[in-house]
Amino acid sequence: MALKKNNPTQTIAWSKLQNHFNDIKEIHMKTWFDKDQERANRFTIKWEDFYVDFSKNRITQETLNLFDDLANEIDLKDAITKYFQGDIINETEGRAVLHTALRASKEESVIVNGKNVIPQVYKVKRKIKKFTNEIINGKRKGYTGKAFTDIVNIGIGGSDLGPAMVVDSLKFYGNKLKPHFVSNVDGDHVSEVIKNLNPETTLFVIVSKTFTTQETLSNATTIRNWFLKSATQFDVAQHFVAVSTNIDAVKDFGIDENNIFPMWDWVGGRFSLWSAVGLSISLAVGYKNLESLLEGAQKMDVHFKNEEFSNNIPVVLAFLSIWYNNFFQAESEAIIPYTQYLNQFATYLQQAIMESNGKSISRNGELISYQTGNLIWGEPGTNSQHAFFQLIHQGTKLIPSDFIGFTKPLHGNQSHQDKLMSNFFAQTEALLNGKTEAEVRQELENSNLTKEKIEQLIPFKVFKGNKPTNTIFINSLTPESLGKLIAMYEHKIFVQGVIWNIFSYDQFGVELGKQLAGNILKEFNDSKINNHDSSTQNLIDFYKNLR
Ligand code: F6P
Repeated sequence: MALKKNNPTQTIAWSKLQNHFNDIKEIHMKTWFDKDQERANRFTIKWEDFYVDFSKNRITQETLNLFDDLANEIDLKDAITKYFQGDIINETEGRAVLHTALRASKEESVIVNGKNVIPQVYKVKRKIKKFTNEIINGKRKGYTGKAFTDIVNIGIGGSDLGPAMVVDSLKFYGNKLKPHFVSNVDGDHVSEVIKNLNPETTLFVIVSKTFTTQETLSNATTIRNWFLKSATQFDVAQHFVAVSTNIDAVKDFGIDENNIFPMWDWVGGRFSLWSAVGLSISLAVGYKNLESLLEGAQKMDVHFKNEEFSNNIPVVLAFLSIWYNNFFQAESEAIIPYTQYLNQFATYLQQAIMESNGKSISRNGELISYQTGNLIWGEPGTNSQHAFFQLIHQGTKLIPSDFIGFTKPLHGNQSHQDKLMSNFFAQTEALLNGKTEAEVRQELENSNLTKEKIEQLIPFKVFKGNKPTNTIFINSLTPESLGKLIAMYEHKIFVQGVIWNIFSYDQFGVELGKQLAGNILKEFNDSKINNHDSSTQNLIDFYKNLR
């Protein structure tokens, strides 16, 4: 069955939230901390190796109670059941949304079109495992008999960002295979990647759910041509494998049927790293680690499915995000991991979140009158502190931020870790408390500055504070904890989409640009003038004259 269709702003809970917002919008969180010694404990969820402190938010217990009412009013529980059991909740594309089935246990049964999909999921997993082991242990070799040293993932969007982020995040767990990623249709990207590669020892994994994507097919063709400069057509079978739902197109490309890793239309591109799209992950860090990643995600699935909303990490994070987006009118959210390993995490989440919830038509097919998808951005701390934190601390915009930290460093450098973590705690403390005029004055009075200079400087040195943050504190960065973290955001996306009454699992917004690019590409070699606006026409002409 489809998801229910409700305008959230017309619920009783929403109007109560609006009144409640008017009551508390000016209150400084500090006053709540001062009054309530239990606040931090009350607004912390401890689950497995996760410690999620959301007390530094502009909320009271009433805020959460009202969001709980909202979730009940729009029947979030019913939506969650439909999501996990494979109902056609991607209504506009007529598909189930079942990335959760990719990490379900063997014993589970998830029915799509009358058929349990779990056995086929496990069949593909076995194929990934066998293939991975044979590449890593050198049983499968390149066309000149040498073991593989490099793997190149050729894909874009969900067929690139997920595997690329996970492989980079887990590089501590890497093996002798060197992973590379080619995504952009920019020829310089592919050239830079292949320039140092040896065709004899490189394995190419072409990942495209549809196998029609211009970028991926262009890069795959360029790479195959490069490969054929030193090898024969016969050798392609040993060096090229593909992940796709479009088996015929993969075969037409010249890939051996045994080298195809299938996926299914009920796996959305941006949620596909758990499927055979994760083949590069398996190759780069070993199948066992891919399995742990899946297990972590599965644990988060169980938590999300069963835990009551007030203690449910993805649900609470979704409530908070809606609170700022729709009531405080915050436009963006920052994701700040305090580990360099999660360097690509915000980029990955940009697609997951913005392609999912960047919608303006409701599930009823009407134009929406309230805000939906947030803008997502971020960089690891402490680097980001020296880049954009000024704006978060003293700018005019409210930027709710997720601080993600890990107790234990992977290489065990405790002195660095203590410095890193002191920054991790200090930043959320500073964002909460700020620095008052009195505090600034006192500090300046201890300096040698004149009274006049002190008065002049004070306004610039005041920090208002009251800036919301979530602290997501995890024991250590392992394949399993990363799986949990990614699944946490996936479910947050789902809850937000359900409440906003939008379809989170289509992406028609990426089509128009693709279509026009196709038309323009034809025009580069054609003198026929097409009907463009004058700006676009001038730009095309300028390029045609200079290319
Ligand atoms: O950007 C649009 C999109 O369809 C994404 O959703 C998807 O992840 C990406 O293109 C790549 O698509 P494919 O895996 O079919 O090549």
